[in-house]
Amino acid sequence: MLKGVLFGVALTIGVALIGGYFLVNSGLIPANADAKPGWMETWMASTSLDATLRRKAPKEQNPVALTDQNLLEGVHLFAQNCAICHGSAKGGKSASPIAKGLYQKPPQLASDGVEGDPEGDSFWKIKHGIRLTGMPSFGYTLKDQKIWTLALFLKHMDKLPPSVQLAWLQVENWPEPSDQMDKK
Ligand code: HEC
Repeated sequence: MLKGVLFGVALTIGVALIGGYFLVNSGLIPANADAKPGWMETWMASTSLDATLRRKAPKEQNPVALTDQNLLEGVHLFAQNCAICHGSAKGGKSASPIAKGLYQKPPQLASDGVEGDPEGDSFWKIKHGIRLTGMPSFGYTLKDQKIWTLALFLKHMDKLPPSVQLAWLQVENWPEPSDQMDKK
């Protein structure tokens, strides 16, 4: 009896594995980036990210102090590492060709910002990246202190002191205005 059940289970797993192999090989699972993600993909990705953040994101306060100097450094770090995907102060209107073409689409943070998120969550996303999206891990190239500086800037992006705002307005996210790139 037990033998029969075990054989049935093994057979089912075997058929599922072979079926899965042929499904992946058939080209029926789309591999293109110019599409909208389906509901199941979206649900799985966001649920897994939220659960990971609950477990892993630091809960402490940002160790980088809220000063104009640190915010300005945040603007410079963002211009250098992030603007090409996350945009300039112009927000969604001027997304770069890379931002338009990525799957998942990177939010243009000036119009779709993360000021409401805990800084520890932003720190974790910047340090470790987000799997199966274009969001890279900057843990290889930026020290924790710089990543916290970026998290500080993201938290205060919509309420910068005037001198820092001026620097932010000058950040470019693409060498030429990206609306000129629309013509094919
Ligand atoms: C190559 C493109 C790319 C670069 C460069 C990039 N990101 Fe991202 N980022 C993404 C994508 C794509 C997502 C969306 C991931 C998703 O859908 O879960 C994302 C998501 C995020 C999020 C989460 C946004 C939200 O609404 O929850 C934050 C915060 C973030 N990035 C910060 C940064 C910072 C800071 C930098 C620079 C140090 C940076 N990213 C550089 C592509 C990029």
